[in-house]
Amino acid sequence: MVNDNRQKNLSASTHNRLHTLSVLSGKGGVGKSNIAAALAFALADFGKRTVLIDADLGMANLDILCGVDNARYNISHLIDGSRNLNEILVHFRTSQRATSQNGAVALLPGGVGLKNIADLDDNDMERLFEKLSALEAMSDYLIMDAGAGIHRGVLSFAYASEITILVTTPEPTSIRDAYGVIKSLGAAAWESIEGAATGLMLVVNMASSSREASEVAERIRLASMQFLGNAPVYLGYVLKDENIEQSVRARKIFYRTDPDSNASICIRNLAGELLRLCEGADIRHEAVHGNGPVRSFFSRLAKSLFTGKK
Ligand SMILES: Nc1ncnc2c1ncn2[C@@H]1O[C@H](COP(=O)(O)OP(=O)(O)OP(=O)(O)O)[C@@H](O)[C@H]1O
Ligand SMILES: [Mg+2]
Repeated sequence: MVNDNRQKNLSASTHNRLHTLSVLSGKGGVGKSNIAAALAFALADFGKRTVLIDADLGMANLDILCGVDNARYNISHLIDGSRNLNEILVHFRTSQRATSQNGAVALLPGGVGLKNIADLDDNDMERLFEKLSALEAMSDYLIMDAGAGIHRGVLSFAYASEITILVTTPEPTSIRDAYGVIKSLGAAAWESIEGAATGLMLVVNMASSSREASEVAERIRLASMQFLGNAPVYLGYVLKDENIEQSVRARKIFYRTDPDSNASICIRNLAGELLRLCEGADIRHEAVHGNGPVRSFFSRLAKSLFTGKK
């Protein structure tokens, strides 16, 4: 699993602008972790260096989902200072589809039974973010599996990220909880971050057809527009695919076991759309503001964890 060449690649490539994506949901079990991991591999197939962060502390399971047996270290070892980032990151080989030598995926495993990130004390949080900020220089995309619900830990990832992917399924309970997240995010959901392609975006998972997915997205967008005065962008959908459950049981990401399935094609479409949004925004950003880096993701995250705001 660990691949030295990939590791070198991840740290040696020229740094472009970093993009940050957090994946969250109202209701649990809607497919966030599968989508976050599949997107990481799909973006790597487009030549991007991605780091997948299991930010669903306490309920972390991306390591299992990605087939990492007994991840020796996790975020808790960064917090207690016993390990450094390089000892904790797990590097993966990317698929045959990789179009660029620079495509790579690394996972920062979370731990089981850890405190929610918002409940860490100031010292722990400072130590954690200081170490995590090294990730910003070694990746093109940080993808965070932020968890479900509307507590501060989840919302802060949305506030700090360039793009927030809100996952829902067509189930009415999931739709209502997605709307609850949009409402809880408040006006900050629509504010941009320093020239980036920020936005709250909807992904409909487990859809039986593209039409059903569009209808679900439209229902959420209409309610949001009517009652909150703004609506998330509909990014796309992932079809329901019974084989995903088998991949999960086999501790594999469906995108890797079955790259030509309909669900994997949906993931590649989502990755392509994200690239268009993020890299298109780069061009606009450079034209307006020059080539400076956006303010550190982790300093934005620390600020919103402390204040509960953007
Ligand atoms: N497109 C899909 N088609 C069919 N089944 C799916 C699909 N996406 C996810 N699943 C199923 O849903 C289950 C939950 O997925 P996942 O763990 O990614 O959800 P989650 O939102 O991260 O859950 P949690 O809130 O507990 O973190 C998976 O085990 C898988 O069996
Ligand atoms: Mg999950």
